[in-house]
Amino acid sequence: MHPRRVARLRQTLEQRGIAAQVVHTDAAEWLERSDASFDLILLDAPCSGSGTLQKHPEWPWLVHDDLPRLTGLQRRLLTAAAERLAPGGLLIYAVCSWLPEEGEAHREWLAEARPELRPAAVWPAALGADADGATTAFFRPHPLRWEGEGFQAFAFTR
Ligand SMILES: C[S@@+](CC[C@H](N)C(=O)[O-])C[C@H]1O[C@@H](n2cnc3c(N)ncnc32)[C@H](O)[C@@H]1O
Repeated sequence: MHPRRVARLRQTLEQRGIAAQVVHTDAAEWLERSDASFDLILLDAPCSGSGTLQKHPEWPWLVHDDLPRLTGLQRRLLTAAAERLAPGGLLIYAVCSWLPEEGEAHREWLAEARPELRPAAVWPAALGADADGATTAFFRPHPLRWEGEGFQAFAFTR
């Protein structure tokens, strides 16, 4: 949505020699109007950023009264994205937030609302460690054992 980020994206694509169609618009509206279907959708959704405390230590002291707007937008984007997922395709949703209402709650809601979607276990259950091969369709690193930014991600296939 931000022109500066779109310009940076175009620059990065050009530097790397990657051909891609860049669409600068409201993704929910665009998806709702589209009749295309996609094999892979990564929805790196706008969120409260509660997982970015390392970068933004002031976060707990700010007023976050736009959470209802954000969770509404996340659900709208998720609904539109799920609608456009091709059979056998993979939909990944991610937010840099710990708040359950920005991740886990959407996952539970989507599983119930769209029974044709199945959880896709695409992450090692113990990321960063020598895992036993177990995988998970919902990844949320433990805040006390994870050194990077906080986030949640889940995946579904159709
Ligand atoms: C978590 S960031 C994604 C960052 C991106 N993956 C990157 O590496 O630059 C979420 C982005 O969604 C954009 N955004 C917010 N509302 C949107 C909407 N309705 N449609 C499309 N993008 C939106 C924000 O401007 C922000 O750049």
